[in-house]
Amino acid sequence: MDGIQAEYRQRREQLMAKLGGSTGIFRSAPMAVMHNDVEYNFRQDSDFFYLTGFNEPEAVVVLAPHHEEHQFILFVRPKDSEQETWTGYRVGVEAAQAEYGADVAYPITELEEQLPQYLKAADAIYYHLGRDRDFNQQILTLWQRLVAEIAKAGIGPTALIDPSVLLHPQRLIKSETELMRMRQAIAITAEAHNLARELATPGRYEYEIQAEMERLFRLRGGLGPAYPSIVASGANACILHYTDNTRQMQAGDLLLIDAGCSYDYYNADITRTFPISSRFSDPQRALYELVLEAQTQAIAQVKPGNPYHTIHDAAVRVITTGLVDLGLLHGEVDTLIEEEQYKPFYMHRTGHWLGLDVHDVGAYKQDAETWQPLQAGQVLTVEPGIYISPDIQLPEEQPPVPEYWRGIGIRIEDDVLVTTTGSEVLTQAVPKAVAEMEQAPSPLVSGHRS
Ligand code: GLY
Ligand code: MN
Ligand code: MN
Repeated sequence: MDGIQAEYRQRREQLMAKLGGSTGIFRSAPMAVMHNDVEYNFRQDSDFFYLTGFNEPEAVVVLAPHHEEHQFILFVRPKDSEQETWTGYRVGVEAAQAEYGADVAYPITELEEQLPQYLKAADAIYYHLGRDRDFNQQILTLWQRLVAEIAKAGIGPTALIDPSVLLHPQRLIKSETELMRMRQAIAITAEAHNLARELATPGRYEYEIQAEMERLFRLRGGLGPAYPSIVASGANACILHYTDNTRQMQAGDLLLIDAGCSYDYYNADITRTFPISSRFSDPQRALYELVLEAQTQAIAQVKPGNPYHTIHDAAVRVITTGLVDLGLLHGEVDTLIEEEQYKPFYMHRTGHWLGLDVHDVGAYKQDAETWQPLQAGQVLTVEPGIYISPDIQLPEEQPPVPEYWRGIGIRIEDDVLVTTTGSEVLTQAVPKAVAEMEQAPSPLVSGHRS
């Protein structure tokens, strides 16, 4: 078994130690329809991929640590030369066993027949009710049958539990292999952001910048964008999920780009905001400096043991204090924070876990009151912003927002690894200091054209 397969096996063993006398069932992602009978490119379910590296639809993994004969069972599509001519290569049953390390592999058509033997002596079934309703129904029907047999059998699964409680804490801590893939996704994304600063000039369209960035994502071996790229000039930057990317950029605009590449299923998520005419206006610079300071203070909170919420709290305090200093909010900072009066300007949280999913899995809280303490190996984004939409609505007690502030939207987003001693900003290759944002990188230095 080669290195990466050994790692998948180690992940399964880690999970099986927690499953104990129970059985886990994981379903591959369904094919998603684009329109009529045309489908999107297949993208494996992240839990399924994390446990196997197996990249096909219509597959099921069963983990049954208590079973005498088989602990890792794979159900896959059988080889079918006619089907493969249309939709591509299939690993098939034999290779699924040989190459993916399964104790046994079956054709997916035998699921109904084979599955009960791995469930009937289990204490519980760990299964996530997913998007495939027919499959959900199949599991529920089987479970119902096994429950009915418990009285006579004296054994059987009395609970159906979502596996995220066991698996997602594990996914939250990234291995060296995972970090390597994330670093690669980030390196490609950094190159694309630096190219974008070079290309963004008045008169060009947002989609031109999007196209050049996404071209690089593929050119460098990435799977493509990790999420719909946001290339938002002028007031479009105040729309958090603006993805039309159709506007022609004007002199004096800021351009907010939130774009990331997916590489080997791992994702980067980077945002930069910069003036396309090389200089910030005074209001733009004041707000940019404020967001940058909020981000700096928030990143300073990323260290093992610090509760997750301290990152957001730091950003909110800097932003609220700054908005008061700039005359955009009136009042006492603590009260404004308590009453969330900053929210018309800063309405989202300061980040999220990052990994196989862009908004990666894993709990932010231990219980209703307690935030998770950060741990080495976690990767998260830190992405404060200020958005002053042209028609911003403030509570009555607040002063009207002067026209020259309106239509400015700024976000700065980095990807940060929690280390044993503090943090490492993985996205440092994309500049963010004021002076650097006012200076387009030289094509000679950045040298992207290949
Ligand atoms: N690009 C998605 C996010 O920043 O959360
Ligand atoms: Mn993000
Ligand atoms: Mn983002």
